[in-house]
This record gives sequence, C-alpha cells and structure tokens, in this order.
Amino acid sequence: MCGIVGYIGDKPAALILLEGLKRLEYRGYDSAGIAVYNNNMIKIEKTKGKLADLENKLEGRYPEGSLGIGHTRWATHGKPSDINAHPHTDCTHDIVVVHNGIIENYQQIKEWLQKQGHKFETETDTETVPHLIEHFYNGDLLEAVKKALKKIEGSFALGIISKNEPDKIIAARKDSPLIVGIGDGENYIASDIPAVLEYTKKVYILEDDQMAVVKKDEIKLINFDGEEVDKEIFEVKWDAVAAEKGGYPHFMIKEINEQPKALKDTMTGRLNFDDVEIKLDDIKLTPEDISDIQKIFIVACGTAYHAGIVGKNVIEKLTKVPVEVDIASEYRYRDPMVDDKTLVIIISQSGETADTLAALRESKKRGARIIAITNVVGSSVSREAEEVLYTWAGPEIAVASTKAYSTQLAALYMLGLDLAIKKQTISKEYALEIMQELKQLPEKAEHCLKNADTVKELAYKYAEWEDAFFIGRGLDYAVALEGALKLKEISYIHAEAYPAGELKHGTLALIVDGVPVIALATQKSLYEKTLSNIKEVKAREASVIAVAFEGDNEITKSVDHVIYIPKTLPFLAPVLTVIPLQLFAYHAAVARGCDVDKPRNLAKSVTVE
Ligand code: AGP
Repeated sequence: MCGIVGYIGDKPAALILLEGLKRLEYRGYDSAGIAVYNNNMIKIEKTKGKLADLENKLEGRYPEGSLGIGHTRWATHGKPSDINAHPHTDCTHDIVVVHNGIIENYQQIKEWLQKQGHKFETETDTETVPHLIEHFYNGDLLEAVKKALKKIEGSFALGIISKNEPDKIIAARKDSPLIVGIGDGENYIASDIPAVLEYTKKVYILEDDQMAVVKKDEIKLINFDGEEVDKEIFEVKWDAVAAEKGGYPHFMIKEINEQPKALKDTMTGRLNFDDVEIKLDDIKLTPEDISDIQKIFIVACGTAYHAGIVGKNVIEKLTKVPVEVDIASEYRYRDPMVDDKTLVIIISQSGETADTLAALRESKKRGARIIAITNVVGSSVSREAEEVLYTWAGPEIAVASTKAYSTQLAALYMLGLDLAIKKQTISKEYALEIMQELKQLPEKAEHCLKNADTVKELAYKYAEWEDAFFIGRGLDYAVALEGALKLKEISYIHAEAYPAGELKHGTLALIVDGVPVIALATQKSLYEKTLSNIKEVKAREASVIAVAFEGDNEITKSVDHVIYIPKTLPFLAPVLTVIPLQLFAYHAAVARGCDVDKPRNLAKSVTVE
C-alpha cells in the first residue's frame, strides 16, 4: 500500500505535494519522492527513508513549478532504496509516473520492452509503466496511457505527467483507491482524501477502470475506453485526523476491515490454477531441497507465534514433515536441535522483533534453511533470511496485529501447499480444492465483517468482566490463543485461552456464574468433543459465546450466543474465525475507554530483548 498525490494549478507544487504525502504516510513510509515540471523539464527528488528524510535532503530548495506528482512508498517489489523510490520515468525522462498497487505481469512486460531497447534502472514493477507509455507515445499522452493500461495486469492507482503535455495530470484506477480533489483554478489527485482535505472538501472518487484527465481548470472523467463517465461530487464531512483513518475512529478497526483486501493482495499472482501450483517468486526451494528437509521449526513472537501454531497444523498435515513451533525468546536459548536438514520459518510482521531476529541468526549459525514471512520489504528479517515470503497487507499501524495475522495464515497455507505439491504428499485434486477455497476467503472475510454489530453488542454486554476465557480444540485452540491475546492487550481484561479438553484439569475451577467463555467450534472432527466441553462450562453457569459455521443449528441449544461465519474447509477456518474475535476485542476496549491503537506498556515493534 503506497500513497500518491498530484497537483496542477498556479501555486508552487512542491510544498503542496509534500504536505499531501505527510497525510498519506500511514499508507507507507520506507521511501518518498516528488516530480515537478518547470520550463520544459521535470525535476525529480526522491530518497529512501521517511518523508522527513526527503525534506532534509531538499533543505528548503524545493523544485519550482506548478505541476507535479509525489509518492510515499510501502515496498512490495524492489527493496527500499533511493533508486527504487517513486516517481519512475521512461528512457527519455519525459514521462513520469507514481503508482500504488502491484503489477502482476511486470516481468513479462519488462522483458518485452528490454527486447525493444528500453533501459531499466530499478527493481520495481512500477517502472514498466512509464516505459510502456513511452512505447505507445506518438504525440498523444492519453492515447498512449490507454494502450499501456490494456497491457497491465494487477492493481494500480497511477499519477502520470509528461513534459510534452505539461497542462495535465492523467490518473487511472484499478483495484487501488484514487480520488480527484476539485479546487478553484487548481486540482489534485491522491490515493486518499486526507491528502487534499486542507485545500478542498469536494472530490471525485474514481472507481475501477476509470481515468481522469486533470487540468487546472477542467477535469475530464472517462473509462479505459475513453468514454465519458458521469460522477457525483462527494462532499467530505471528515476532519483531517479522522480522514487518515479512512473515516474509522481507530487504525485497528480500519485494519480489521482491510483484511479482505490484504488477503486478496497477499494471494494475488500466487495461486496458479492452470498448473495447480503455488508461485512464490522469492522462494527457491527445489523439490530436492524439500526432500532433504527432515524437520521444520516455526519461530516467532506474539500474534506471529499464534499464526505459527496454525502453520504447524497446516504444514504437518500437508507435507507429513514434523513441525515444531517455538516462541523466539525461548528458542534462541534452548540449544534447539537444528541442522542443515532443518527448515526454519521465521514469522514477523515488522521484521524487526529482536528475539525473532536473534532466532533467525541462531538458526543460520546451525546451518538451517531459512524462510521469512514478513510484511516489511527491506526489514532486517527480510534482509537476513535466504528466502522471503511477503504478506502484502500494507502498513499495520495499530499495536494490536490483525491484518498481519490473517495474511500470515494465507502465506503459511500457500507455503504448505507449495511444499506438499513439490513433495507430492497431496493429490493435485486436493491441492486444487484448497486453492479454490483460499481464493474465496477475501469475500468470506468480507461477510464476517458484516457481523460487526452483533459482535459489538456482545462485547459491550461483557465488557465489564475482568476475566474471559477462550476455548477450542485443534485449529480452534490455535485461534483461541490469538483471540485471548487481542482481548487482553487492548481491553486489559485478563483473558486466557485453553484447549477445551484441558479445562477439567484445573481451569474449570475459575468458571463462575456469568463469566464470558468464547468457544470456537469449527473443527468437524472435534465438534462433538468441543460441544461436551461447552456443556461442562455451561453446567457451571458460564455465559458462552460460540463461533461456528453458518447452518450449525445444533450448537444454539448449548450456548447463550452464536456468532456465525461462512462455511469453508475446517482447515482454512482460522482466517475467518479470528475476525469476530478481533472485533470483540476492539469493541470491548472501546467500551472500557481504552487507548485502542496504543495500549499501555506496549509497542508496535519490540526491537529490544
Ligand atoms: C500482537 O497484537 C502484538 N502487537 C505483538 O504480540 C506482536 O505480534 C509481536 O510483538 C510480534 O511482532 P512482529 O510480528 O512484528 O515480530
């Protein structure tokens, strides 16, 4: 997820672009850049690092001109660096582009253009866009852009300027947000409303396959075929701060709601149905490498550790290779049985967690193969692991991890499938069945979010309790751990997760009249057992909230409330089961007046031991 801006008018563009990018840094902040047209030349200033680093680099010497575009980056293809920062240009440097999204077929396009003599300077997918436009350019920028867009597969919000036509910005949108800000004798483009709110509250919200030709005194809205598009002007009611959260009151609830898109982006281009294979470009494990692997460790902290527990279940079931899951701070000091026949999977959203990084180094020292699953391109973990499987969730700002968890699960499912297909431990039919169900998850996650009001009511009903229990068996227990962590870390309710079958060995002593127990019951093979554990706590007068698949009427007889989720393979249920638990934790914390995005004593990334 990146942020793009553009300005055309009579004022100095540079300052307007920089201010707009500041309002979009929540969308990405590993590198930034601006391009400004003046006197038949486009000046580009860009750098690795935050926007403040770009401003320091400029030292007040802003490029002059009243037409410009800008970008703040969250890298997906090409590590954060000065050269990989946007904007990007064609060979002549006459055409300049900023992009938010993922161009899935960028390698094919790049090879095709290189064969025609185009010289590329960066590792990014984005750089293919200005070169494509250059390829089709014959005096009409809009026509060249339309032809270029027809070649591109993937998601994009584009801002395009050219020194040959300095009276316009061309904007185009497919699967990545893009708005046009309507000024008086000046106009704007941006990834999101906060970037223009200081100048105008009137915007056009572009939809997929729509473009805008933005001049300082005219805005033309068309579709990719060039046909005019009618659109209402949207009057913004939010203030600037609320707007950075997309109108949500907290980053956490915004990120919970971003999960469908984060899941879709993370799986984009990686599920190859035709050949029934998983395309993990950065994972180079050959079938021979994989057959050498005798043992797998998954090592992480906190939420990432909980994702690892799901990963253990998934990878063992698919590959029949024993998997151990370890908390990084324990693993690094317990002399783990790791050697060159071991694969170590390191999971870290930030890629900077000290214990997890230490575990990676310890594993490397012992000769293990290392795969990292991380959300931050260029993070320490991504640089030190031999192979990286990125989650493309976009920046996660809230301390409580949500979309990182669900996209880590998606990454683990894809990795497990990749290993199993190469080891031939599952049939192509079964692999295809899982892949087809994986593809449905973003839509089913969207459906889970529609339950938010039901969950909110329950959270408010039980928010005053100082204790809460989460129970489940198998994969349901793995998700119960994550639900308990979410609730305790933002609402400060002492929440505990327990294997449902373990309650009678002690914890049942804590089950008192009315205490909330969230029971997960999605694992078909363990359903009856889970139901009997639910009856155990009900017999002690607990208030039981079940999370179950739609159509399960049996469970309503044994619990106080049911939160339904759409049916999926029980094996994939954790991606959906976690959503009501995230919502429950969020609303309970709001009900208790807690600082949801910045809970006490915690930090987003624990970079010290
Ligand atoms: C999760 O909600 C917490 N914020 C915390 O447990 C976090 O998951 C843990 O610190 C690991 O962070 P990482 O994924 O960035 O390594």
